[in-house]
Amino acid sequence: MQISELAQSITKSKIRVMYDLAGKKENVLSFTVGEPDFMTPKPIIDKANEYLSKGYTKYTPNPGILELREAIAEKFGPELKRRIDPETEIIVTVGATEAILVAMQTVMNPGDNIILADPYFTSYINQIKICHCSANLVPAREENAFCMTAEDIEAAVNGRTRMLLLNSPCNPTGAEYSAEELEQIARIAVKYDLVVISDEVYNTIRFGDEPYVSIAAMPGMAERTIVVNAFSKSYAMPGWRLGYAIGPAELITMMPKTHDVTVACVNAPHQYAGAWALRNCDGEVAGMREIFRKRRDLIVEGVNAIPGLKCFKPKGAFYLWINIKEFGASSEEFCFDLLEEQNMAIVPGSGFGAYGEGYVRMTYAADEETIREGIRRLSVFVNNLQRRR
Ligand SMILES: Cc1ncc(COP(=O)(O)O)c(C=O)c1O
Repeated sequence: MQISELAQSITKSKIRVMYDLAGKKENVLSFTVGEPDFMTPKPIIDKANEYLSKGYTKYTPNPGILELREAIAEKFGPELKRRIDPETEIIVTVGATEAILVAMQTVMNPGDNIILADPYFTSYINQIKICHCSANLVPAREENAFCMTAEDIEAAVNGRTRMLLLNSPCNPTGAEYSAEELEQIARIAVKYDLVVISDEVYNTIRFGDEPYVSIAAMPGMAERTIVVNAFSKSYAMPGWRLGYAIGPAELITMMPKTHDVTVACVNAPHQYAGAWALRNCDGEVAGMREIFRKRRDLIVEGVNAIPGLKCFKPKGAFYLWINIKEFGASSEEFCFDLLEEQNMAIVPGSGFGAYGEGYVRMTYAADEETIREGIRRLSVFVNNLQRRR
């Protein structure tokens, strides 16, 4: 049987590798997959059931029901500092994943180039391959709080660069770009006429006091930025597969073309429930953020107290990015041995790009008791490792 070169080129994410390995053993504590451990707030589930029973079971318009697009426009208008036209500037997608892929497919030609931070969220690289494009990876260094610098981005631009993919707050590092950094990056995007995909799926899970800033609100960016978001993280709805993209009409009105032939539309009851959630669930979203903040503080303190480990205090999202360079082992060796010896699964940093080597990612979307037990197992493992050296 012939398997296409494209299918062969797609690599399995190391998040899934570790998750699957953890599933094959008993009593494993798994801190692998990036999904909230919370159940979707009950009123949202009730709404979806209500719409399903009322018979909202037909196809919807390709870009999504207008009611949901209006709710998105109302919510994001103030953040993007402009009026968003729900008819032409928003498309509803199957999670953020589809929004990012369709955005790339709408802008990029084969052979074009996308600038991306390294370490990066694992799906991006395979999505770039699906578009037959290449990535120019720009280091997001520890000494710069895991953010790319505008100078490094400028140095990476070449004649085929059409796009910059930005993710803030960031998976896997928990880094966040400041308004000043975004402004400098925006200047580069304008100078080289780049389209920016701004993946903002963690925009409500932030722990700083500064108000949220999107690069789309910077001068010259409204006409070149596609903001991607989803209900997956903020509303604890990853399995609902509900996401969206907001951007200039010129691009957004083209996106339903590939979206139509891939998925047609997102399922109808979920779209109605999503519209309701955006208008009624700010309290639930804030409540979950506060729980993540407590867990963040707990895990940072616990892991930093383990001799030899060093971790960055995440500014957002729900991942701890731990520096293991002191041990000299590869991040894969570290994770495989931890799984073998302590029945605990985390993800090797090398799965997120070359600059991820020397780090491991531990998700803290888990209750405090589980996090405490994870810290304990990590500590026993590291102590044993120290003794063997
Ligand atoms: C940065 C980032 N973007 C996109 C996604 C995918 O989101 P969705 O589940 O809505 O497709 C994830 C999921 O982990 C993520 O971390």
